[in-house]
Amino acid sequence: MSKSDASATGSDSGEILLSAVDISVQFGGLKAVDHVSLDVRRGEIVGLIGPNGAGKTTFFQAISGFVRRTSGEVRFRGERIDGVAPEEICRRGLTRTFQIMEVFPSLTVRETLTAAALVRLSMAEARKVAISIAELVRLDGKLDLTCRHLTLPDQKALEIGKAMATQPQMILLDEVMAGLRPAETQDVVRMIQNLRDRGVTFLVVEHNMDVIMSLSDRIVVMGTGRKIIEGAPEDVVRDPKVIEIYLGEELELA
Ligand SMILES: Nc1ncnc2c1ncn2[C@@H]1O[C@H](COP(=O)(O)OP(=O)(O)OP(=O)(O)O)[C@@H](O)[C@H]1O
Ligand SMILES: [Mg+2]
Repeated sequence: MSKSDASATGSDSGEILLSAVDISVQFGGLKAVDHVSLDVRRGEIVGLIGPNGAGKTTFFQAISGFVRRTSGEVRFRGERIDGVAPEEICRRGLTRTFQIMEVFPSLTVRETLTAAALVRLSMAEARKVAISIAELVRLDGKLDLTCRHLTLPDQKALEIGKAMATQPQMILLDEVMAGLRPAETQDVVRMIQNLRDRGVTFLVVEHNMDVIMSLSDRIVVMGTGRKIIEGAPEDVVRDPKVIEIYLGEELELA
């Protein structure tokens, strides 16, 4: 399904899967996230962009239960999840990847995917899911390789696989494509589109504008803790404020 198909099938008016209202996170005197609200509808891919230090990762941490909020409410599938532990949030169907990859180097691909699947399943079921997820992220030939021997693109695929192994309805992806070559990046883009076609909803942080433009149904821009604007990709990249704080003049005509 392409971006335009997604809106044609009604993601503009679909169920609000994630609703974050008035989220703030303070680190000492620093307002890392400052009263940010954001809705994501089921089936959407929403891009979250902004300069380094804008608060994107902290916002992810706040909605997935990894950091204490100083204000705000988060609902997932209509239920409050603020104050709920990360593992329980994951069990309810909202999972995240980490900007700094958390792959245990001495585990195999199979062990890593099985461990992730155990969030929801018994050991016997988790072992089976590990194999099907490995196929989904094209690591089925590498199930018994230890993670330290994986190439960077395979590590990224594993990161997505780990998220998928928890059988999520929605994934928060934090710079999962950083460091990849263009062709490798395109593989990951296709993988995400494929997973969306299987019903997974995404909120994606990425600095690569080509990726964000080709993936996102909608883009939200943050700058120094605040939400600057949200809208259609083609409108957001032309917004003077977005160009000023993030994109710079070279992308003015993108
Ligand atoms: N645990 C922490 N303790 C104190 N300050 C923090 C902590 N985590 C993040 N910050 C600060 O909060 C601000 C937002 O950081 P955050 O990592 O959320 O930005 P980001 O938008 O994800 O940036 P990047 O694009 O570089 O990943 C920054 O000023 C950062 O230094
Ligand atoms: Mg970050």
